[in-house]
Amino acid sequence: MSALEFQSVSYQYPSEDFDIIDRLSFQVEPGSFHCIVGVSGCGKSTIFRMTNGLLAPKGGEILVDGQPIGGRKRYCGYMPQKDLLFPWRTVGENVALPLEVAGGLSKGERRKKVEAALADVGLEGCFDKMPHELSGGMRQRAAFARTMLTGSDLLLLDEPFSALDFLTRISMQEWLLDQWQRHKKTILFITHDVEEAVFLSSSVLVVEATPIHALTEIQVPAGFPRDRACLAEPSMVELKERLITLLRKQVTA
Ligand SMILES: Nc1ncnc2c1ncn2[C@@H]1O[C@H](COP(=O)(O)OP(=O)(O)O)[C@@H](O)[C@H]1O
Ligand SMILES: [Mg+2]
Repeated sequence: MSALEFQSVSYQYPSEDFDIIDRLSFQVEPGSFHCIVGVSGCGKSTIFRMTNGLLAPKGGEILVDGQPIGGRKRYCGYMPQKDLLFPWRTVGENVALPLEVAGGLSKGERRKKVEAALADVGLEGCFDKMPHELSGGMRQRAAFARTMLTGSDLLLLDEPFSALDFLTRISMQEWLLDQWQRHKKTILFITHDVEEAVFLSSSVLVVEATPIHALTEIQVPAGFPRDRACLAEPSMVELKERLITLLRKQVTA
């Protein structure tokens, strides 16, 4: 059974006169890590907004674990482009949000779970800090911990590292692969950075044109666990160039 399946899904923004997502079908296997790459404005985030129920498709069906998403809760964790930690809440109170929304736990029980989640992302002792006291990478790890606490097996990460400096970004990529391997989640990760996509993915899903009618799946030749040395292998360099060529076609079109 697929972790996520789009069956001929369409979407049109009310202010537009065309379907930006046009009868799109694709599926994602449980436990896989796919990056979705495409030029800015092509509709990548729209795919996530429909998957997490923020936008309702005009047509078609979205299934998670074989079941339509309509009326369901907590079937996916979503991390938007900005970390969106509330500045007036402590880091711990931010990370506790999904538990508060779900209800059923006492404040003490929530704190225990949040402390464990923070420790898991390398932020032990940060519960009572304010978001502005954390570095960019630490904030993204806190946002990831919050996404994990939704308890969902499907994680949608929308350009989570795009605002980080290069060195922080590459350590976060390694960190995320480690998290993925330990927690066995299904991850969909949007990026416009081709090297990031190649480093993280089991296969890359490329948006070749807007309206989005299909995602072109391209296998990544390196296995897991992997480290950055694999990026220098000729097959990986070739793949990166191929992706750049595909994306540049749209920019100049
Ligand atoms: N609320 C909206 N109303 C109308 N058009 C929108 C809205 N949000 C996004 N768009 C348009 O839809 C296109 C795709 O947006 P988005 O999915 O955010 O792109 P991406 O994530 O690939 O950069 C963009 O060209 C954008 O201008
Ligand atoms: Mg986007």
